[in-house]
Amino acid sequence: MKRRLALLALWAALMTPLVQAWWQAQNPDADPDALVAASGTWAMAWLAVAVVMTPLARAWRPLARWLWLRRAVGLAAFAATGVHLWLYVLAMRGFAEPGGEWALIADEAFTPGMLTGWAALALLLPPALASHDGAMRVLGRAWKPVQRLALPAAALALLHMAVVHDGLALALALAGVVGGLQLVRIFPSSRKA
Ligand code: HEM
Repeated sequence: MKRRLALLALWAALMTPLVQAWWQAQNPDADPDALVAASGTWAMAWLAVAVVMTPLARAWRPLARWLWLRRAVGLAAFAATGVHLWLYVLAMRGFAEPGGEWALIADEAFTPGMLTGWAALALLLPPALASHDGAMRVLGRAWKPVQRLALPAAALALLHMAVVHDGLALALALAGVVGGLQLVRIFPSSRKA
């Protein structure tokens, strides 16, 4: 029970900047593009944290006792992506005739920038849906591979960031850190803690 409350509190704390972005979007003077960018950056940040927690805990054992918090971080990344998507729909509404935003969204869905975003979202969906004890029991040994879909999702999200964002350098730097830490999964430390 205590753990559930802690997960909920962490999730709520991580969602604070997204709620703020959602709130700002209610203001008619808000800059929708800036809010899409901000929410995307938060989604990327939480996803990057979620996928580096396991390798970091393998490299530095004391962190392992905090790994149960990963569920809140992963679910915050998914929910942040939901807010990002919703703000994108609002931004597209600004360019379209009334009701025409979906046609615009469909039109650009297959450009490299958008396709990588949609694909990342599709890969995040199964681990997010399976992020509870019931799914863990039902899926058994298949649960871990489902959760690992977060890794290709993070790779696609970084690609998405690199393509849509002016600062390719930031996406590359993040890819270096996130990708570099994944090497710990392949080459675990041989030193006994
Ligand atoms: C659901 C499908 C997605 C759509 C339609 C979408 C759409 C967009 C759009 C239109 C932008 C450009 C914002 C701008 O600079 O004006 C953007 C930027 C971005 N998106 Fe997404 N996105 C999606 C999924 C994701 C996912 C899954 C992540 C990460 C978990 C993500 C992270 C980012 C980041 C980091 C940026 C760059 C922000 C910046 O400019 O600083 N997006 N996205």
